[in-house]
Amino acid sequence: MTSSPRQPQADGRPDSTDSTTAPGGESARGYLLDNARVEAGERFVQLAELFDGVTRGHFDRLGVKEGSRCWEVGAGGTSVPEALAAAVGPTGHVLATDINPSWLTAGNGYEVRQHDVAADPAPEPGTFDLVHARLVLVHVPDRARALATMVAALRPGGWLLIEDADTALQPLACLDESGPAQRRANRLRDAVRELLARRGADLRYGRTLPRALREAGLVDVAAAGTFPVGGPACNHLEAATIRHVRDELLAAGLSDDTEIDAHLASIHAGELDLTLAPLISAWGRRPA
Ligand SMILES: C[S@@+](CC[C@H](N)C(=O)[O-])C[C@H]1O[C@@H](n2cnc3c(N)ncnc32)[C@H](O)[C@@H]1O
Repeated sequence: MTSSPRQPQADGRPDSTDSTTAPGGESARGYLLDNARVEAGERFVQLAELFDGVTRGHFDRLGVKEGSRCWEVGAGGTSVPEALAAAVGPTGHVLATDINPSWLTAGNGYEVRQHDVAADPAPEPGTFDLVHARLVLVHVPDRARALATMVAALRPGGWLLIEDADTALQPLACLDESGPAQRRANRLRDAVRELLARRGADLRYGRTLPRALREAGLVDVAAAGTFPVGGPACNHLEAATIRHVRDELLAAGLSDDTEIDAHLASIHAGELDLTLAPLISAWGRRPA
């Protein structure tokens, strides 16, 4: 399953002949926010800004250190594999996989492979000190199988850390619905959630994680939640997401050009205190 990563073109878009079909195998019915579009790369930068601090805190707490072996599942961009590579050093090992690894850069202290966590077997089974996936399983229809694959990759005593959104817990784009721009933002957030649900995303997945980890046989399971409110990273993420799914929103009749353009203008004008669904981080250990 090894593949050399695609290099982004001059405009930042991965080398793909078709901007609507990812080279990593996603079908038109697969992952909505596919990596073949330039907006995916913009989203990874903002997700890193918003959540890498939280994620790195969990890595430290779960004992990732010099010499650790880590598998980053559905890595998307470079920031988390790079953080892991820095933590484990030259004596450790970091494997970064994605169904479409176009945005990953091999040779930066981590190995890159194309891998579908819901279809392919665990790489290097029984060997990892830490397996991590952030904002991946929520999009994977066969998430129980994906979870089992990740558990199979752990060494006895190794930790699984899953971080996923629960958009049903907090579905709003603007918590303070103070005017028409905020109401429009919330309407469009609902429309994007509808597109995600049509692709098989589980919009209530975050809350199920502790139970899912226990049912997968893990012990010492616990979880925490976090979500940002307002700020430039939320604005950039929202704009990139809306531009990414614009054609889908129009095709599904869930919005129109006037509404989308007005929303993008409101974001650009800094009128909205945009927020996200809570990110639930849950961890558990394979029995020793
Ligand atoms: C929302 S992005 C999150 C990226 C990164 N984990 C982060 O938090 O910034 C979801 C990622 O999961 C990947 N993905 C989706 N389905 C997958 C699958 N079945 N197997 C592996 N990766 C998958 C996508 O290609 C994308 O890179």
